Amino acid sequence: MPALVLLGAQWGDEGKGKATDLLGGSVDYVVRYQGGNNAGHTVVVGDQKYALHLLPSGILSPGCVPVIGNGVVVDPSVLLSELSGLNERGVDTSKLLISGNAHLITPYHTEVDKVTERFLGKRKIGTTGRGIGPAYADKINRVGIRVQDLFDESILTQKVEAALDFKNQVFAKLYNRRAVRPEQIVEELLGYADALRGYVADTTLLLNDAIDNGQVVLFEGGQGTLLDVDHGTYPFVTSSNPTAGGACTGAGVGPTKISRVIGILKAYTTRVGAGPFPTELLDADGDALRSIGGERGVTTGRDRRCGWFDAVIARYATRVNGLTDFFLTKLDVLTGWERIPVCVGYEIDGKRVDELPFSQTDFHHATPVYEYLPGWSEDITKAKSFQDLPKNAQGYVKALEEMSGAPISAIGVGPGRDETIQINSFI
Ligand code: GDP
Ligand code: IMO
Ligand code: MG
Repeated sequence: MPALVLLGAQWGDEGKGKATDLLGGSVDYVVRYQGGNNAGHTVVVGDQKYALHLLPSGILSPGCVPVIGNGVVVDPSVLLSELSGLNERGVDTSKLLISGNAHLITPYHTEVDKVTERFLGKRKIGTTGRGIGPAYADKINRVGIRVQDLFDESILTQKVEAALDFKNQVFAKLYNRRAVRPEQIVEELLGYADALRGYVADTTLLLNDAIDNGQVVLFEGGQGTLLDVDHGTYPFVTSSNPTAGGACTGAGVGPTKISRVIGILKAYTTRVGAGPFPTELLDADGDALRSIGGERGVTTGRDRRCGWFDAVIARYATRVNGLTDFFLTKLDVLTGWERIPVCVGYEIDGKRVDELPFSQTDFHHATPVYEYLPGWSEDITKAKSFQDLPKNAQGYVKALEEMSGAPISAIGVGPGRDETIQINSFI
């Protein structure tokens, strides 16, 4: 029963796109199960670089069927432009399947996202402004519009009217903005129907059948564990469940079918947007990680906040996801430091803690307790096996593995597909 979940073990941007693409050649389906075009997954194939936002990274592997699951929120205009962008570069996208139960992001969701952030002022979350939170809010409020609604004009009209009834009051009375006309939204959405119709399928049935027939299914998470709406640093989170359980609800596959859960883990830590980040560096080391690691957002172009590796977070990711493996990425970025600090615990109001505190206030007060590991200066980007790594790089990986609670089964030493050391096979 080879069904694998691949997810971010930190605050996103761990290198999920590269890891998914690497496995893409050996799997039958790659499924996005949550999030939307807030994601920015970079895949480097030879001298070609792709930035994927909504489409599963498996779209770049010719033998693999990419699937957008029911748990994803889909902005149809973004989807169509991402598809045509790939087609222009010669990528075949015809195998794509989209769940009819996935919810749509409409222009009023994007609008609500932007005005809410403006309204929050200095308490803002620093969202990607793509309408993600408001679309999920409508889903939970039962006033969302689903992909299947595009094919029934009368239902679509009723649903858009219901959704705008309340929102237009808020736009006008709270935000002092013009009301959105339902007819205009309906017309725009109907305009996408023909282009999308051929992709829509009963993806839950299909994926369960595929797993039962011994085919390999890979669930690709967006964002990361600490951005999970239940298990992350709430309220500084995204509005979905990137953690492993999200793969089950977001694709309609039972937990008994999942055989492996792989956490993508950067050899240091980054975060985009607001919220606590104990190991954040506001000094020259932070600047160096940012520039050597190319830590700039793929979706919004914002500089990523950078800091040392945090083992408390890695252990937490192992726990809440039931991780079976880690894929450690960007080890090459740490080349050149004489010694590398690693956060092994926190000090909170004078007390040492080893686990992530459940209280938001405590986490905001947490300061890192560091251990210092010896660095290396040799170029590691050509390393093909663990033994090719300098002794101190091997020691760094082994120490992280011990602290994090799951085996490190692959190591990234560069952005390319083949710049990977595979220790244990994933399939
Ligand atoms: P994702 O959102 O998790 O898919 O990650 P992003 O694509 O947003 O950010 C990860 C960045 O690191 C991308 O630019 C990747 O090309 C790059 N990358 C991934 N793995 C490695 C690695 O092992 N070494 C280096 N130097 N870059 C990597
Ligand atoms: P990938 O898949 C890093 C962050 C935003 C913000 C918070 C909420 O590339 O790892 P949202 O627009 O989702 O409501 O914003 O979540 N965020 C990400 N940070 N990587 C991502 O995706 C992210 N997607 C959302 O910066 O702090
Ligand atoms: Mg990203």
